[in-house]
Formats: sequence, structure tokens, C-alpha cells
Amino acid sequence: MTVDQITEETIKILIDRFYHKVRGDAELGPVFAEGVGETDAEWEPHLKRMYDFWSSVMLASGKYQGNPMKKHKDLPPFKEELFDRWLELFEQTVREVHSGEVVERYITVSNRIAESLKLGLYFRPTTSLI
Ligand code: HEM
Repeated sequence: MTVDQITEETIKILIDRFYHKVRGDAELGPVFAEGVGETDAEWEPHLKRMYDFWSSVMLASGKYQGNPMKKHKDLPPFKEELFDRWLELFEQTVREVHSGEVVERYITVSNRIAESLKLGLYFRPTTSLI
């Protein structure tokens, strides 16, 4: 069953399902195992932060206070192409949980944040651009 409303409860369902896929994914799994850990106990605080993050982004709840750019910059380097896989799995999960206009909202917002993180992580101005 899919729902067309976003609540704290649907955010938790979405995020739990998404990171379950991420942990089992051949490409993303190892990066997250390194950055977060392998046990449920290590994942618990990460999942909690991600509920708060998406609640802040989609419901303007103000629950998340953090600096995602810095967190990602501090991770061991990973390939830019992994963002495509991240977005693919995220969209897939959104479509499992939601229907209607909410699906497009999640896709638009996740793509926008991914673009901004990629600029911060990979964009290096070169003299040819100046
Ligand atoms: C290939 C792409 C990505 C990888 C490999 C990745 C990896 C990670 C890892 C390992 C952490 C845990 C860092 C820590 O606890 O120290 C993290 C945190 C986080 N990620 Fe990502 N991420 C990716 C893309 C994204 C995207 C697209 C978003 C948002 C749409 C996002 C949002 C966040 C947030 C909000 C945190 C929590 C930061 C905090 O602790 O305050 N990530 N990410």
C-alpha cells in the first residue's frame, strides 16, 4: 500500500526501507559500512538523524541541526557516480511507500540536495574556467 501524505511515521518507514537497501547494495554497502558501521547498534543513531533530517526538509519541523556537507567531506573519498545509485535506490523506495504528488517532491528535493553535495565534494575550479 502506498500513501499520499508525509508524516513522521511515513518518514521512518521510508528511511528504514531505504537504508536497508543501501546496506545490502554492492556499490553503496561498503561505503556505508565504513562510514556508519555494520551493526544495528551503530546504525541506530544514523537512522535517527536521518528521520530528523527528512522531517526538517519535508515537514519543516526543524528537528535536524547539523552540517551534512562537512560530514560527507570528512568521509573516506568515494566516487561521484555513487550518487546516481543513491538517488536510484531512494526513488525506488519512495515509489514503494508513496503515491501522488509526494513522490515528485521527494525526487526533486533529493536530486537538489545531491547536486549541492556533489558541488561541495567534487567541484574544483580550474584556470580554464576563469
Ligand atoms: C553516494 C552518496 C552518499 C553517500 C556515500 C553518503 C554517505 C553517508 C555516510 C557514510 C554518512 C554518515 C556520516 C557520519 O555519521 O559520520 C552520511 C550522513 C548523512 N547523509 Fe549521506 N551519503 C550520500 C548521499 C546523501 C544524500 C544525497 C543526502 C541527502 C539527500 C544525504 C544526507 C545525509 C545526512 C543528512 C547525513 C547526516 C549528517 C549528520 O550526521 O548530521 N547523503 N552520509
